[in-house]
Amino acid sequence: MASSYIILIFLLLGYCVAAGSENCLISLNSAINPIADPTSWTSPSGRFAFGFYQEGGGFKVGIWMVHKSQNTTVWTANRDDLPVSSNAALELTHDGRLVLKISPGETQLIANSSESASCAAMDDSGNFILYNQHSEVIWQSFNFPTDTLLGGQSIPTGAGLYSSVSGTNHSTGRFLLSMQSDGNIVLYPKHTEPSGIDAYWASNTCCYLQPVHFHLYLNFTGALLLIDEQGQSELISDPDTSSVNHNSTIYRLILDSGGLLQMYSHRFSENGDDVVSLMRMIPNNKCRVKGLCGFNSYCTMEDEEPLCRCFPGTDYVDSTNQFSGCETIFKEEWCSNAKENLSSSTFKSIDHVYWVDPPYFQVTMEVADCDKSCLEDCDCEVALYDFDQGTCMKQKLPLMYAWTVPEKSFRALFKVGVERIEAANTNNSDSQLRVFKYKKIVESGNFGLTEQLTLRPFSYRELKRATNGFKEELGKGSFGAVYKGTLYRGKRAVAVKRLEKLVNEGEGEFRAEMRVIGATNHRHLVRLLGFCAEASKRLLVYEFMSNGSLADLLFRSERHPDWNERMRIALEIARGILYLHEECDTPIIHCDIKPQNILMDDFWTVKISDFGLAKLLMPDQTKTFTVIRGTRGYMAPEWHKGTPISVKTDVYSYGIMLLEIVFCRRHMDVNASTPEEIVLSSWAYRHFRDGELDKLVLGEEVDKRLLEKLVKVSLWCIQDEPAFRPSMKSVVMMLDGTTEISVPPCPTAAATV
Ligand SMILES: *[C@@H]1O[C@H](CO)[C@@H](O)[C@H](O)[C@H]1NC(C)=O
Ligand SMILES: *[C@@H]1O[C@H](CO)[C@@H](O)[C@H](O)[C@H]1NC(C)=O
Ligand SMILES: *[C@@H]1O[C@H](CO)[C@@H](O)[C@H](O)[C@H]1NC(C)=O
Ligand SMILES: *[C@@H]1O[C@H](CO)[C@@H](O)[C@H](O)[C@H]1NC(C)=O
Ligand SMILES: *[C@@H]1O[C@H](CO)[C@@H](O)[C@H](O)[C@H]1NC(C)=O
Ligand SMILES: *[C@@H]1O[C@H](CO)[C@@H](O)[C@H](O)[C@H]1NC(C)=O
Ligand SMILES: *[C@@H]1O[C@H](CO)[C@@H](O)[C@H](O)[C@H]1NC(C)=O
Ligand SMILES: *[C@@H]1O[C@H](CO)[C@@H](O)[C@H](O)[C@H]1NC(C)=O
Ligand SMILES: *[C@@H]1O[C@H](CO)[C@@H](O)[C@H](O)[C@H]1NC(C)=O
Repeated sequence: MASSYIILIFLLLGYCVAAGSENCLISLNSAINPIADPTSWTSPSGRFAFGFYQEGGGFKVGIWMVHKSQNTTVWTANRDDLPVSSNAALELTHDGRLVLKISPGETQLIANSSESASCAAMDDSGNFILYNQHSEVIWQSFNFPTDTLLGGQSIPTGAGLYSSVSGTNHSTGRFLLSMQSDGNIVLYPKHTEPSGIDAYWASNTCCYLQPVHFHLYLNFTGALLLIDEQGQSELISDPDTSSVNHNSTIYRLILDSGGLLQMYSHRFSENGDDVVSLMRMIPNNKCRVKGLCGFNSYCTMEDEEPLCRCFPGTDYVDSTNQFSGCETIFKEEWCSNAKENLSSSTFKSIDHVYWVDPPYFQVTMEVADCDKSCLEDCDCEVALYDFDQGTCMKQKLPLMYAWTVPEKSFRALFKVGVERIEAANTNNSDSQLRVFKYKKIVESGNFGLTEQLTLRPFSYRELKRATNGFKEELGKGSFGAVYKGTLYRGKRAVAVKRLEKLVNEGEGEFRAEMRVIGATNHRHLVRLLGFCAEASKRLLVYEFMSNGSLADLLFRSERHPDWNERMRIALEIARGILYLHEECDTPIIHCDIKPQNILMDDFWTVKISDFGLAKLLMPDQTKTFTVIRGTRGYMAPEWHKGTPISVKTDVYSYGIMLLEIVFCRRHMDVNASTPEEIVLSSWAYRHFRDGELDKLVLGEEVDKRLLEKLVKVSLWCIQDEPAFRPSMKSVVMMLDGTTEISVPPCPTAAATV
């Protein structure tokens, strides 16, 4: 009876007391030391310990997760101080201070609480806590994170996580996760400004005009949340942990020494063994961590690990450290007599290398002209050529943030010197100037984050708010309506697509499809920013395209695009589809190519939308699929015949659309002046066969060869027999003039045989 009263009073008095003070087992006058037991204070479950651990031949004070094989350090006190010797001791003194006694005359404060403690506890979530006599928390290690966030821990705006030097040296390393006051959470190399060009990941929860006060919170079930002052939260990352027993699982988020933000789950079993799984890694390619490799080196993956290699003509600054960057070993004098000495032997090239350093010169030209242009240009030290876009980019050294991209056709050509004069000991003032200029560019902040590397989950409420209650409908597609919305307090326009008619599908499959779409990244694809999967609701959030669709441009506007414009649009669409078919990680058949799904951004660049959704509507591509997919007129014959759908199905739709682009009219026009004009493809084929194509574009000034080329490509694409249709790669090559185009047969001829 009495005791329950005491408990009740205790609860009333201490309603704000953190749970766990009843475990306040470390009393004043307790001490531990590095070698004689006890060397640590453990938590009640035994999963965490606080005390001395070995580092660099001495000992450091910290907290670790206890494993049978190797313990995982999650926190280090005064991490940049030297390790201490085995004579040291850690003590909760009689007057309530937590101190490290380094040597008889030298003590150091571990916890700088303003009050004195009456006891301390190592709790089961990995937090070391000091309590005062009222059992109030006066200091906790969770408030001073190093490189790790544990379930239940949060960091406020202005704070961050700093990586460690290495797995065995927990001093401050080279990377930072920063909670910016504009609301964004950003990863970047420590020595730089967190501007767009240096950041290699951002949560994009950003851009509040007034400084905001948020907390980044890792909850006990592994979700990473951004919580505002009102307690409202936005999900940053939510691993699917529904099948996990949370009782015995601890989540750990670490910014590792290689700059990767990694989420682990540790599942402890009865017998003390634990199962560690990596649940998420940001960025998902280790070489995409900017600043991992220093100046003039590029990152390449070897045996799953990143390796920094020097550019031609340079060598490691510190030959024992591949991350140290590289310096030029030759002094180049190609400008004194360059022109006469034009010779390819002065070049060295690397394929598939890429960097984000902005070039001082960028022009579309042939690769041979690019080489020549660089050789003749005293300022040019390296020319990067993009074979996909045909662009030549000239740069000066030093370069930063370079890595290999095996899937892209880039080639970097380095001038390694006409006259090779050893100049290892000279001060490279030009190079220093470049570094300075580079810093200036960074400071000017003109380089927004060009890539979002992750998809953001949204709540339904958030999207309802963003679209003002789904008020402004932008259009209706085969998947449902699209609404205009704004995020980040009106700073960013988005298009929110509410999917309807979904076949019964679990959230897991939906998320899997979202990952496939989210992994695409191409100039000519609309970018998916995030999604919502709540109960039966499925919504997609896309970047907003300001200039409408190709359908508006072709069929609605008074001004028809000129022939150069039509050619550009045709080629850009073809490149986008080619990427979907052959270049992204998981090939995607669009299944609904039509002018309404080709959008235009501010600069009238083509962006293909609605890709990757076909599977969501009908995972079983063999049966009723044809009933709801595709759009009449653009649908290839195999839709009706029940033959398998393939990438060639998209090629057919592309061919129909290409005719529409060429003639700026719809494929079917019931109001056409004569019956033979109703179906554009047959009308165009007849005129093509009779050599009278120009009769179709009366009154327009047209390059006849271009017109014929475009029509020939279209007619090849719309062959009834899928095998006769070219691949998208061939389409691109025909359009850009790489391959000759033979005379197409009647599109329906093969089918009638
Ligand atoms: C840890 O790394 C820092 C920074 O590189 C270095 O100064 C320090 O000596 C290293 N500590 C040990 C114990 O190796
Ligand atoms: C891990 O921590 C426990 C508890 O402090 C300790 O007894 C053990 O020796 C440590 N294991 C290793 C491999 O350091
Ligand atoms: C303890 O140290 C932190 C970080 O250096 C500082 O922000 C805080 O004000 C200090 N607290 C006291 C009571 O001195
Ligand atoms: C963690 O956050 C997720 C997402 O908001 C939520 O579903 C889950 O219930 C939370 N877990 C706990 C223990 O609160
Ligand atoms: C969680 O752990 C407690 C105490 O160890 C145990 O009583 C309970 O049954 C566990 N719950 C689950 C779902 O495993
Ligand atoms: C070309 O370079 C060589 C040194 O490699 C130099 O001796 C020669 O004079 C140069 N040719 C001309 C025409 O300047
Ligand atoms: C580089 O220049 C600095 C300042 O101009 C000078 O102090 C230094 O000695 C020079 N280093 C070498 C290797 O010449
Ligand atoms: C296209 O976008 C530009 C830039 O946002 C805008 O000025 C222009 O009005 C847009 N045109 C149309 C037709 O929407
Ligand atoms: C055909 O003409 C009628 C009457 O002018 C119009 O209502 C209809 O929209 C037109 N159809 C097409 C496809 O242009």
